[in-house]
Amino acid sequence: MTLRNRAGRRLGITDPAPDLSWSDAGDAYQVQLSDSASFASFLADSGRVPGAPLWVPWPGPELTSRQRVHWRVRVETGGSWGDWQHDWVEAGLLSSSDWTAVLIASTSEKGAPRFARAVELPAAPVHARLHVTALGVHEVTLGGVPVSDEVLAPGWTAYESWLPVDTYDVTELLHEGVNELAAVVGNGWWRGRIVSQHRKEAYGPSRALLLQLEITCADGTTVVAATGDGAWTLTHLDLTDDLYDGTHERNRHERSGAQITHADSLHGELAARTGPPVRRTETLAARPLGEGLYDAGQNLVGWLRLHLRTSESCTVTVRHAEVLHEGTLATAPLRSAKATDTWELSAGEHVLEPRFTFHGFRYAHVDTSAEVLAVEAVVVGSDLPPAAEFACSDPRLEQLHSNTVWSMRGNFLSVPTDCPQRDERLGWTGDIAVFAPTAALLADTHAFLRDWLRSLRAEQRPDGQVPVVVPDVLPPGGFAGLVGFAGWSDAAVLVPWWVAQRSGDLGVLRESLDSMRGWVDWVHGQCENGLWLREKQLGDWLDPAAPPENPWMASTDSGFVANALFVHSTRLLAASLELLGEDASGYGALAEGTAARAWARWGHHAVTTQTGCALALRYGLVPDTERVSVGAQLARLVEENGGRIGTGFLGTPEVLFALSDAGHVDAAYQLLLCTECPSWLYAVEHGATTIWERWDALRPDGTLNLGTGGDGGGGMLSFNHYAYGAVCTWLHEVAAGLTVRTLPEPVIRVAPMPGGGLTHARSEQSTPRGAAEVAWEISDGCLHVECLVPRGFRAVLAPPNGPTIPLPVGRSHHVLDLWS
Ligand code: BGC
Repeated sequence: MTLRNRAGRRLGITDPAPDLSWSDAGDAYQVQLSDSASFASFLADSGRVPGAPLWVPWPGPELTSRQRVHWRVRVETGGSWGDWQHDWVEAGLLSSSDWTAVLIASTSEKGAPRFARAVELPAAPVHARLHVTALGVHEVTLGGVPVSDEVLAPGWTAYESWLPVDTYDVTELLHEGVNELAAVVGNGWWRGRIVSQHRKEAYGPSRALLLQLEITCADGTTVVAATGDGAWTLTHLDLTDDLYDGTHERNRHERSGAQITHADSLHGELAARTGPPVRRTETLAARPLGEGLYDAGQNLVGWLRLHLRTSESCTVTVRHAEVLHEGTLATAPLRSAKATDTWELSAGEHVLEPRFTFHGFRYAHVDTSAEVLAVEAVVVGSDLPPAAEFACSDPRLEQLHSNTVWSMRGNFLSVPTDCPQRDERLGWTGDIAVFAPTAALLADTHAFLRDWLRSLRAEQRPDGQVPVVVPDVLPPGGFAGLVGFAGWSDAAVLVPWWVAQRSGDLGVLRESLDSMRGWVDWVHGQCENGLWLREKQLGDWLDPAAPPENPWMASTDSGFVANALFVHSTRLLAASLELLGEDASGYGALAEGTAARAWARWGHHAVTTQTGCALALRYGLVPDTERVSVGAQLARLVEENGGRIGTGFLGTPEVLFALSDAGHVDAAYQLLLCTECPSWLYAVEHGATTIWERWDALRPDGTLNLGTGGDGGGGMLSFNHYAYGAVCTWLHEVAAGLTVRTLPEPVIRVAPMPGGGLTHARSEQSTPRGAAEVAWEISDGCLHVECLVPRGFRAVLAPPNGPTIPLPVGRSHHVLDLWS
């Protein structure tokens, strides 16, 4: 049985009463809290509680700073208790008064500040905790050993509102006597280049460190080393670092003599993240292609690790790109991001990895006179637990699935971003809004997206408008007014809904409810005659029919799209209110009325586009009497378009569902399996290993679609944008046929829809109750279906033909007639 707490981690949590969850469902449960791992005495004991909730409120007194509490749970099934399962949580510093440390800063323009001091211990340490954050990104070492395997800590949040603090157990890294404590602070999101060519220092001009090391020694003494206590020295590494541009490290020399200043006091709260840290998650061997060029075999996010030998001092320069053009790195899509790492080396052997940066790339060019011994590609990202596997008889669909997983891995780096390579890498709300159901299926995103939602709520305007990027770093001026857009700002509703739906955690809806309502109410307030008629929208972004340089000029009217999203969000808000026991009738009526008015105004137009039909059907804008004809019309549009896709960001997640819901499974497979441009498999057949931003990122004639009308400047072209990967939800839920929902109650629906020549398919998904699985195969003219249903779910099997049947818990095998 797996145990989890709502703080997302064990050590250094700043939620003093984290809800608890465990995977086994029984008839009753019992939870106990204790100060000791042996449970010699209890802080709380729930006694026997009937039922099997997915989450229970923290059952005891709130944690105090630094307190460790052990918790254990057992589950009763069929009258007998299972074994106790144990876990623990330990609070970090919960109050600002716990911090004796103050921010210390470097105002030097050059180099990376390294703050250091000696920590002298009179006896061996028995307990040591290091609490740290930075304005910038930090690497902390004790005796030269990193205190954790995290990179780019503390990550990116709405810094003005909250700054993440990490707590590490460093007992093992300390010893009696003198220990060297050091922290290097890179520019990161705080001070580096962000958004565009000329924007630096988005958050502030200086890098700063806040660190408090608390040690208890074997002789009972306590030692505290805190920034600001006067014992620190400041030097600067000869290092230039930037997330977009890469790093330049010169001979690893340090310059000394800089002055420590005290940074401005913090505006935001100090709090632990719930999400997983960013770390190295995988290493791939890079294949030499000749003349210094290397191929990682996979478009990825991270950097190269180089093993080199040189007999004299020399330089190494590594440049990166996602694709090759005529045999060389195609760097135009990076726009102004230099994505170049440089080292100045002395003679000897070196293992090099860049610091305080990351690159989106598959290919790299290494320029050096040193002997290259080995080249590896290090994959970096927020270390999310994977939650789904997909397999089927068509390897192209497996590749499509893999491409989506890789795009998610690359773009889930501290915040969910649009792309990881060009001078952008921002938390575009629309991208995660459309991808949220898929993201929450492919990985355990609960803790990660709760962090991001916290930032979203902090940056939502008081009137309810939601910025189009979170963290909101768009400078005033050119981007002014980019708040409150259909599809983008709807992230305020769609993201919490899907995180709650997957995790069963109503708390996600509870903490976002005001934000969800704020957005829906704001749109409502904008309506004229019951419809939202804002002229400027981002619309069905990157509809393949839109001019490459004007991706918002989609073929589906942006007014219709905006009102469809408004209806959808209003319905999800109403459902959320109901789940939380609040009156939702007003929002239900608002959704119905808007749907009817939008259909009356745009229905005749909506039926002329794939996105129009798909949103109308999926978001319930079509009157019941017209559903059959609109479904048939969508299938006709697909047929007329030769199976090619006609949707942009907002229509894509819904179009296959709209077809299969309406019974047009063949048309859905036709769209899914099309290989002509534009289509999902066009990219796959052209060697994509991630999801492209544009359907025709690489045009059939071999040119790159930079979207600039050919002038070569600016442009918008990423080979790693997850939005169109939203199709993977359909692969799992319809092609393989496994749909898992936890709200209002845990249900599983097994409804495979074979088609497109597939002979077998399989989906495995993590649920809060453990794994669920469907695997089907066609043999002897029959559909053989294997199901795995975890205890705690009500499950049904809906065969392609014939009535629905209940499914038992555990594994079961069914032979269905395909053709009757
Ligand atoms: C991003 C998109 C984003 C869009 C909206 C682009 O630059 O890469 O994914 O949603 O802008 O304007």
